[in-house]
Amino acid sequence: MSDGLEGVIAARTVLSDVDGAKGRLVIRGYAVEDLSGRTRYEEAAHLLFDGFFEDAPSDLAPALGQARVQAFREVAALDEGLARRDPVEAMRALLARLLDGDDLATALLLIAAPAVFTPAVLRMAKGETPVAPDPALSHAADILRMTRGAPATNAEAAALDAYLVTVCDHGLNASTFAARVVASTRAGLTSAVLAGLSALKGPLHGGAPGPVIEMLDAIGAPENARPWLEKALARGDRLMGFGHRIYRVRDPRADALKAAVRRLAAASGGLPGRLAFAEAVEQAALQILREHKPDRPLDTNVEFYTALLLEALGLPPSSFTCVFAMGRVSGWIAHAREQLAGGRLIRPQSVYVGPEARAAA
Ligand code: CMC
Repeated sequence: MSDGLEGVIAARTVLSDVDGAKGRLVIRGYAVEDLSGRTRYEEAAHLLFDGFFEDAPSDLAPALGQARVQAFREVAALDEGLARRDPVEAMRALLARLLDGDDLATALLLIAAPAVFTPAVLRMAKGETPVAPDPALSHAADILRMTRGAPATNAEAAALDAYLVTVCDHGLNASTFAARVVASTRAGLTSAVLAGLSALKGPLHGGAPGPVIEMLDAIGAPENARPWLEKALARGDRLMGFGHRIYRVRDPRADALKAAVRRLAAASGGLPGRLAFAEAVEQAALQILREHKPDRPLDTNVEFYTALLLEALGLPPSSFTCVFAMGRVSGWIAHAREQLAGGRLIRPQSVYVGPEARAAA
């Protein structure tokens, strides 16, 4: 038995490869740092879908724009009570209204759903009216416009694209595995995506970047970093944004996102103070983690710079997991289709450690 299925190979995939020793992530043959910042999310989704949907057009952007318009119709079911819940829970409730299917139309609607539902939930929670999608815009530009009610700059849209592409797929992570398990029962893509979203929500997976901001805010100034982090570890807390099951060196996505934060800072003229402060906290954390766990290499993971980038885009920490889902959803769908195409029902076994056989009273 392998605790946490560590080291267990449970699928063959053409989608992405995570090399934890070298700190490399390859998506369909491309290094993540080459895709991030150069590719729009629509193109990354097309890359993932290649070979899984025969009717996929070479440019997914127009169909995805129309799918956003279709998804917006579901926003009518959003009431104030739901909008005030945790945004992931509100989004999951809306997503659960969509019909199951295995075709391209369902897949595009599922990519559109988190991108449309999240801005609507955020706006309604503040008492504002949801903004309808503009199908002519890029996916990233439209997400920011629907959230703010005002257009984003090209640099901001490019920064969100860089994020969505960086996180679009990542081997057999917990949420992708959950999606593949559900897909293996032939339940349909919506059910697979709901499973992925539910697994992503937890703080050990996609729920980490919100707490990264809470940590930075609580530390407040570079000189407080060491005592604050030492106290957190002494309490038995985990430092959010650090450590990974597979990477034994730095997560390559951390650097791809740090580069995106720098590009955004250069274009907007803002951020240098916050970035320098975050870098100081990161360095202090790495040093303390080395002292705390000398035998376990713990380095920066994707969530640390996710937090900085999404914060710089004006997105609230409560929405960060939903934004992660906006990117990862195309990976869940591609994996679900891959599982359907060639995989058997996923059905492992357990070791029984309960009471010996006994007679019923
Ligand atoms: N801070 C402090 N200690 C840590 C951390 C951390 N961030 N990460 C691991 N450890 C310790 C852990 O306490 C354990 O110590 P011990 O053996 O004494 O109990 C040891 O390192 C091994 O931990 P583990 O939980 O067995 O390792 P894992 O491979 O299951 O954990 C992880 C991976 C991501 C759950 C963990 O590193 C963690 O909790 N990190 C903080 C949360 C976080 O940043 N999550 C985002 C992950 S990246 C996004 C994604 O790809 O999903």
